[in-house]
Amino acid sequence: MKILVVGGGGREHTLAWKLASDSCKPEIFCAPGNAGTLDICTNLDISAEDVEALLKWAVENKPDLTVVGPEVPLCAGLTDCFNEAGLAVFGPNKAAALLEGSKLFAKDVMQAGGVPTAASESFTDADKARAYVAQHDFPVVIKADGLAAGKGVYICADKKDAEDAINDVLVDREFGDAGSELLVEECLVGEEVSILALIDGENILMLSSSQDHKRAFNGDKGPNTGGMGAYSPAPIMTDDLWPVVRDEVFQRTLDELKKRGITYKGVMYAGLMVTKDGIKVLEFNCRFGDPETQVVIPRIKGDLVPVLQACVDGGLRDDMIEWSDEACACVVMAAGGYPGAYGKGDVIAGLQEQAVKDNILVFHAGTVMKDNDVVTNGGRVLGLTALGKDLQSALGKVYQALTHVEFDQAQYRTDIGKKAL
Ligand code: AMP
Ligand code: GLY
Repeated sequence: MKILVVGGGGREHTLAWKLASDSCKPEIFCAPGNAGTLDICTNLDISAEDVEALLKWAVENKPDLTVVGPEVPLCAGLTDCFNEAGLAVFGPNKAAALLEGSKLFAKDVMQAGGVPTAASESFTDADKARAYVAQHDFPVVIKADGLAAGKGVYICADKKDAEDAINDVLVDREFGDAGSELLVEECLVGEEVSILALIDGENILMLSSSQDHKRAFNGDKGPNTGGMGAYSPAPIMTDDLWPVVRDEVFQRTLDELKKRGITYKGVMYAGLMVTKDGIKVLEFNCRFGDPETQVVIPRIKGDLVPVLQACVDGGLRDDMIEWSDEACACVVMAAGGYPGAYGKGDVIAGLQEQAVKDNILVFHAGTVMKDNDVVTNGGRVLGLTALGKDLQSALGKVYQALTHVEFDQAQYRTDIGKKAL
């Protein structure tokens, strides 16, 4: 069996690692992959966003399954093109991926379907948006409509912040067409949790809970990033919340999409806030979370290939995944300066140390091989990940291993998982 994994981050290394261990022993290709995926796959020199080149490769090489990591190719219609060519893809089609591709569309679906979420108004006109926020209490949240690589959300503490955000999005067009509209949203208070659900068009299989750490620095300070670490399970997701998330979040969203003639297949990521008034949806993504994938996937016992295939072919069942009782933690090592400007090409030392190789999983993100060295090649560089009998033990292994891995100006948070301990 041949599997193509599209993407080159920590999420894709984790997926490729899990798929490679499958009992059907698949041959894995990763486009473009990274220095970590090289050990288990054939890396293809094709960008994850180049749908045309991916399709050309797939038509020639006929993978039995293509698993798409990032949102950009999904929103660009990779699944539609591949399906037209008779190729199976794990990931929603373009119409369904709009749940991530347009925050206005997602909000409209949630409002129409009765999915609990923050109250909001949308604007295309900067003056109208300014007039609206002027009458509001702060904080408010302002969001660019389209894909903005995680940068399109502003938590505005006061009127000045809100006006700056409106200017960025609607006037200066910082996000191009992705910012031709914006949402002004009620700011929710509570603790965040990420719940991912596999969906075959009809059936919903919720994956175990996880919590990301989006801010760059300890204590949830500093700028928003793609995610600086994660752990699973997340104790904030108590037993009573699971049926609520299934029925009020995933089922209602699927039902509303279906009413609009849209079938959702793949993974649906719900970013949730556990508020004093219950669960509310912050955002939907049409793909696995990063770094949530690094802590959820290693806790799956048994094969993943049949589960992903069931998402494509139908017949997904709750008993298709058995969960390990172990906890999993991932700490992201990022390049100095990230999420702002950062250097590339720094040699990473320590990956071959016994204390690293034997005790933890190292999922690569922004890495590449240069001569015989693994060098940095992105903002988030590595996800050091460990399973343990509990979260404390998993975190202990990761932070111990972190003393051995080094590159110039590496930065990481030292408080991952603290909230759950
Ligand atoms: P998003 O890209 O929508 O996930 O937003 C990024 C981050 O902004 C989320 O993980 C939250 O921490 C925060 N956020 C988004 N929407 C809200 C909201 N309505 N209230 C409070 N925080 C929010
Ligand atoms: N970890 C957040 C995301 O994947 O969007």
